[in-house]
Amino acid sequence: MPARFISFEGIDGAGKSTHIDAVAKRLRDGGATVLCTREPGGTELAEKLRELVLHSPMDALTEGLLVFAARRDHLHKLILPALARGETVLCDRFTDATFAYQGAGRGFDTAVLSQLEQWVHGHLQPDLTIWFDLPAAMAAERRAAARKPDRFEQEAVDFFDLVRSGYQARMNSAPQRIVRIDACVNKGAVWSQIVSALEARQW
Ligand code: TYD
Repeated sequence: MPARFISFEGIDGAGKSTHIDAVAKRLRDGGATVLCTREPGGTELAEKLRELVLHSPMDALTEGLLVFAARRDHLHKLILPALARGETVLCDRFTDATFAYQGAGRGFDTAVLSQLEQWVHGHLQPDLTIWFDLPAAMAAERRAAARKPDRFEQEAVDFFDLVRSGYQARMNSAPQRIVRIDACVNKGAVWSQIVSALEARQW
């Protein structure tokens, strides 16, 4: 089975977590060896960086540098070796999140982010990115029921409107790779869209 790299994206409250588990199950049932991981995080060092990014006040460049530092460690220790073994890697967020949150959300220069992207992973991109899209106000309602918010989850609806536009811009620049899922609908209807995206690739 060929190696596959799939990332999952969306604003906080879009509801991606449960669907990642379901995708893992579906692909395992189809015979794949699946590694589930997340960003920032996935390795001991990157998880420490995650803790800082999510809870310590810092400016957008520092945030961007830390998420890319975490990503480099994650790629070299976990993602690339797994792909080299022919495994399927499911990653809860990847570089599109940096363009959406630090770029569009914080207003940081996307040309600098593109340079960091090039340094950290060259031409490597996920084979497929599943983007859970919904209006920021609806995501805020969903988040209201959730646990104690981190630095990003505390942001206002306006911030998530910008993050959402950042994801749209990434999709416009890579329409073959990024599939938009309408996440406003119920769980079953979201799942059907994901299955269609996988089936379109004969996965
Ligand atoms: P998230 O993936 O939503 O995890 P959880 O479901 O446990 O809350 O949280 C990660 C947060 O990190 C999210 O708010 C977005 C942010 N983030 C960035 O700002 N930039 C990045 O490059 C990445 C990968 C995440």
